Amino acid sequence: MQRILYISTAREKLDDASLDGILRISRRNNAAVGVTGLLIVGGRRFLQVLEGPDDAVASVYDRISRDDRHFAVVRLSRKTIEARTFGAWSMGYRAVNLGGIDDGGRPGNLPAIVGRLVEPIDDVILRAEFTAFAALHAAA
Ligand SMILES: Cc1cc2nc3c(=O)[nH]c(=O)nc-3n(C[C@H](O)[C@H](O)[C@H](O)COP(=O)(O)O)c2cc1C
Repeated sequence: MQRILYISTAREKLDDASLDGILRISRRNNAAVGVTGLLIVGGRRFLQVLEGPDDAVASVYDRISRDDRHFAVVRLSRKTIEARTFGAWSMGYRAVNLGGIDDGGRPGNLPAIVGRLVEPIDDVILRAEFTAFAALHAAA
């Protein structure tokens, strides 16, 4: 199995109905191919974890990354996993408040944004792993 984590930015801030639509389609499609995960939304930022069989995760991620409702899709991590962290959800959902940290322009802000976005992830070790990837990416 594989787990992918990415961040992206919505072209326009999505209203509740649009988000509901994305979640409904996601849950239906993901359940059909054994993908589970979590979608975290903060303002126009998305952070999503996808986990499941290698091929299924790759094809779902490929489809998502071509969705023109968002852009700047950056894969922060891809890892082989033994067990799922979000096995209970075909796609869980959390909203977070980014407050003032997302000024949209400063590239060095990525670690702070990801740090805030991963707060709903209960698993401390997984959260630290994602934050480390964001810091690496920002430095690159
Ligand atoms: C932020 C974001 C997250 C998404 N997550 C998923 C997902 O987990 N699974 C999925 O099938 N589609 C997801 N989508 C939607 C896909 O990009 C695509 O619109 C959808 O899979 C097409 O499904 P359909 O061919 O059944 O209509 C997401 C879209 C966005 C913008």
